[in-house]
Amino acid sequence: VENRTMQNAIDKSPLQVFVRAKKKINDIYGEIEEYVVETTQFINALHAEAEIVDKAERELFESYVNKVAAIREVLTRDHMKVAFFGRTSNGKSSVINAMLREKILPSGIGHTTNCFCQVEGCDGQEAYLMTEGSNEKLNVVNIKQLANALCQEKLSESSLVRIFWPRERCSLLRDDVVFVDSPGVDVSANLDDWIDNHCINADVFVLVLNAESTMTRAEKQFFHTVSQKLSKPNIFVLNNRWDASANEPEFQDSVKSQHTERCIDFLTKELKVSNEKEAAERVFFVSARETLQARLEEAKGNPPHLGAIAEGFQVRYFEFQDFERKFEECISQSAVKTKFEQHSSRGKSLSGDMCSMLDNIHERTTIFRNLKLDQKTLLTERIQGTETQMMQVTRDMKLKIHNMVEEVEQKVSKALNEEI
Ligand code: GTP
Ligand code: MG
Repeated sequence: VENRTMQNAIDKSPLQVFVRAKKKINDIYGEIEEYVVETTQFINALHAEAEIVDKAERELFESYVNKVAAIREVLTRDHMKVAFFGRTSNGKSSVINAMLREKILPSGIGHTTNCFCQVEGCDGQEAYLMTEGSNEKLNVVNIKQLANALCQEKLSESSLVRIFWPRERCSLLRDDVVFVDSPGVDVSANLDDWIDNHCINADVFVLVLNAESTMTRAEKQFFHTVSQKLSKPNIFVLNNRWDASANEPEFQDSVKSQHTERCIDFLTKELKVSNEKEAAERVFFVSARETLQARLEEAKGNPPHLGAIAEGFQVRYFEFQDFERKFEECISQSAVKTKFEQHSSRGKSLSGDMCSMLDNIHERTTIFRNLKLDQKTLLTERIQGTETQMMQVTRDMKLKIHNMVEEVEQKVSKALNEEI
């Protein structure tokens, strides 16, 4: 029973839309690749035997093999990417740890994260890290050592450290979500570089605010730049450290509505990235530290409220889970759309090119045959054989590739509709 409920939970996860679409499109491109390789062999034979196909054509066709291989390579690396920004100490690293259910990233008071840290899943049991420009896998034994490694490496704040964490330890990593943690937006002058180097392909942005104060200019400015460089970025706003509001229950409601109004105005009127309804679904009041503590307790088999920091734990905990659900829906849809739509249209144009080339060759075979028709030689028979084969290949090729590409498009749009 437990296995079945677990399987159910996996099937229902919005992230599975991406995972399934990715698998499907990978399989289809695998078939296309096989077919293109097969056709290339045939074309090469035509070149060698009868010189119906010239060298340039043969080479062009071979380049299709490479193109398909290149798309496959990109496809296997495709993932969903979420990037976290906000002022120093607002709890960006803590939010990521809470989502990963484990203290992976160093967090603490003061300026902690001093370069970009990307957390992504890896196969096997061992965690490791890699710094930019090196292929060396550095061991990560524990969090303290990771923090030390991050400090010792005299890294510039806009460089990237990649932390590879065993997939099987976290469902989000298993489902191909990649997390990007950043230094505080208030400590850098290179915000433009940051966006160009780390954000262009992010599917979702999370602005982590400190609910004890109010959104700062640095935070606003950063997202203004993001929304200038990217068209309609998906932005979630977390008012973190909401546990602090329990100390002042008499102001809780008014503070909450003030923050909510400002956040919604920021997304709708200033950035113009969402409408009112959508924006209202993107603003949350949470406590990352408490959520992480609760989850660590749960992992030990204890009730989550043992991790509570203050009065009102249950509401904050639910709100964090609500954020995660909406985040998963959003990132999965966005990634399927931006990543796979592009692949399926490239597949279509590639198959179009190949088909018209095969049509040309086919036409030429016919002309060639007519020329040779009166010389009742062995060659003619061979060419006739070739022509029949050629017609077969062209027909098969067109059908197969078109069917495949159409299937991908259908699957992708079906997957999208299912979730909307
Ligand atoms: P930098 O890496 O320095 O930019 O900071 P950051 O935004 O990553 O913040 P970090 O996660 O390191 O958290 C800073 C401090 O705030 C840590 O001591 C956390 O334990 C604490 N903290 C984070 N989230 C919360 C929260 O929701 N409630 C409370 N009470 N403390 C929190
Ligand atoms: Mg940090």
